[in-house]
Amino acid sequence: MRTQIAAANWKMNLVKEEAEQLMDQLLASAPTLQNNQEVILAIPFPYLTWAQSRLDGLKGYRVAAQNCHHKNAGAYTGEVSAPMLASLGIRDCVLGHSERREYQGEGEALLAEKMDRCLEAGIRPIFCCGEPLSVREAGNQNEFVAAQIRGSLFHLSAEVIAGIVIAYEPIWAIGTGKTATTAQAQEMHASIRQVLAQQYGQAVASQVPILYGGSVKAANAVELFTCPDVDGGLVGGASLNATEFISIVSALS
Ligand code: 13P
Repeated sequence: MRTQIAAANWKMNLVKEEAEQLMDQLLASAPTLQNNQEVILAIPFPYLTWAQSRLDGLKGYRVAAQNCHHKNAGAYTGEVSAPMLASLGIRDCVLGHSERREYQGEGEALLAEKMDRCLEAGIRPIFCCGEPLSVREAGNQNEFVAAQIRGSLFHLSAEVIAGIVIAYEPIWAIGTGKTATTAQAQEMHASIRQVLAQQYGQAVASQVPILYGGSVKAANAVELFTCPDVDGGLVGGASLNATEFISIVSALS
């Protein structure tokens, strides 16, 4: 059975005091997870070790970075490398979020390098993909996302790719309150799995958790997570509210 994941992406939000408040609220009613379920908090770098110690001993709850650099070390002021994250015990890292693609100009080749640095360091990447509105309106979304996956992931071996997580986040649904319909989400997730199956075979493709992101909230999580190829969500805005996020976690089962 594929791993089901509810992942929070705090993005660049919350000063420490606010983060502590949210964590207190989450821990006060954190759902017990089944063996095949995970909750991942992708949070700002300065809070990683603190959050890890707060989640210590809570089965299935993990802390992720939101990015890392594509080199292991060197004169890159202000950057954070995969080996640094690994040395803190971080085992997950979001890569290729559309906000980084847009504001930091990250593209397929760079993301392929970041994938490699994470995997070499023993960090599981959560690779984000998704199309802008113009591509959706032109009906080219499946090919657009397939190209993102081919460009950043297809250099990986079958064994390695079986261990990553993919997050499909249509850009037009991020922070807009406009969620993809269950039909749109399922169709794209099935298409992504098909792209993986063509390259790596059905057995590998069926192991990779594919999360949906884009205005996931308590009110739509059950519906989305019930789609056969949707294995959970990557949640932005709603993850900053403990009650909302806990309902989303509960929607996994
Ligand atoms: P929202 O849930 O705020 O739409 O953000 C989605 C997202 O970008 C998660 O990575």
